[in-house]
Amino acid sequence: MLERPVILSLTTTLFLSLVMFDPPCTFGDKIDYKKIFKNDCLKCHGRDGKVSKRGKKLGTPDFTDAGWQASVTDDQLIASVTNGKKKMPSQKDNLSPERLRLW
Ligand code: HEC
Repeated sequence: MLERPVILSLTTTLFLSLVMFDPPCTFGDKIDYKKIFKNDCLKCHGRDGKVSKRGKKLGTPDFTDAGWQASVTDDQLIASVTNGKKKMPSQKDNLSPERLRLW
């Protein structure tokens, strides 16, 4: 796969915003995104949004791929993460749509 630095840094920012973002929460509680990501996403999505070995078998997209990024919308991603999509498990209990919008 071609690795274009700009695309890579863009996705990394996008992806890390989920991992690192720890806003002074409007809901009054603190969410540990880093922990959520490590516990629940890393095993399939890999370290920086590139697919892990296990993820590859399940058909996980490479988040650093420009073609993939162009093919999805925020709303779609939120729906997929909330409700799950094919092999991707639902994250309803971890990440509500309101929280995902904070990305
Ligand atoms: C069991 C493995 C697994 C885990 C754990 C997992 N995913 Fe996924 N994820 C997948 C697979 C497989 C797909 C591809 C689904 C498809 O399009 O068929 C996917 C797709 C996605 C997509 C793209 C959805 C779309 O509409 O194309 C996003 C965003 C995503 N995952 C985020 C996350 C986040 C955030 C977590 C952790 C909270 C997570 N995933 C945990 C396997 C996983």
